[in-house]
Amino acid sequence: MTGPRFGVNIDHVATIRNARGGAAPDPVRAALLAERAGADGITAHLREDRRHIGDADIEALMNALTVPLNFEMAATQEMQAIALRHRPHAVCIVPEKREERTTEGGLGVVQDEARLAEFITPLREAGCRVSMFIEADPEQIAASKRIGAPVIELHTGTFAEAHLSGDNDKRARELARLADGVRIGTEAGLEVHLGHGLDFETARMVSAIPDVAELNIGHFLIGEAVFIGLEEAMHRMRLAMNEGYARGRAKT
Ligand code: PXP
Repeated sequence: MTGPRFGVNIDHVATIRNARGGAAPDPVRAALLAERAGADGITAHLREDRRHIGDADIEALMNALTVPLNFEMAATQEMQAIALRHRPHAVCIVPEKREERTTEGGLGVVQDEARLAEFITPLREAGCRVSMFIEADPEQIAASKRIGAPVIELHTGTFAEAHLSGDNDKRARELARLADGVRIGTEAGLEVHLGHGLDFETARMVSAIPDVAELNIGHFLIGEAVFIGLEEAMHRMRLAMNEGYARGRAKT
C-alpha cells in the first residue's frame, strides 16, 4: 500500500463565493485545479441550508471531474434523492445541525442503526461507496460494519483541536484513539478514512498510522491557498502526508 489518498474538500471556495452572492470564486474551477495538482478525489458537502456548496455545484462537479467525487450529506430524504440522481463515486453520511459552524462530532450509528441501515441501502445499490463519518469509537465502528457500510471516516477534530491548543497529552491520547480506531476498522474489513480540522502538522501525524486509506482536507488548505496558492498548499500537504507515511513505515 502507498500512503493515504488525498481528498480535497472545496466547500470553502463556495463559502467565499457566497459571501458576495456572485459566481466567483468558482468551486468547480478550484476542484479542476486540485485535480491537476494531484488530488485523488474531491469532496463537497451539500448542506440542508446550502450555505456553501449548492445544487448546481454538485451537478457541475459531476460533469467536470475525472477524479472521484465524495458527496457529503446528512441522512435526509432530500439528500438521498439528490445522491441517487447523481450517483457520485462516494457518499459520506455526516451529522448535520443547522446552528453548527461545521460538522461537530460523528454520527450516532449505534443510536440510529435500523434507520441508517435502511437509508444507505439504496445508495449502495446505486453503486455509491458509502462511508459513515464517526468518532473513533469501537461501538460506532462495529455498528457501521453491521449496517453494511464499506467505509468509515473517523473524525479527527478533537485531535486537531488538541494540537492547536498545545495540550500535548490530549493530542497523544487522541492520536492513539484514532490509531486504535483505524486498526479496529481495518480488522473488521472496513476501509478507513480520516478527516476534519487537519493542517500540515496533524496530517503528517495521522499519515503515520498504518492502513489509513484517505485523508479529506478542506478548511486549512483553502485558507493556506490565500497565501501560497492552492497548488503549492496541496504540494506541501502531500509532502507532509508522504513524510508521515514514511515515518510510520519506518516504525513498523
Ligand atoms: N471530512 C468530513 C466528513 C467533513 O465533514 C469535513 C468538513 O466538512 C472534512 C472532512 C474536512 O474538514 P476541514 O474542512 O476541517 O478540513
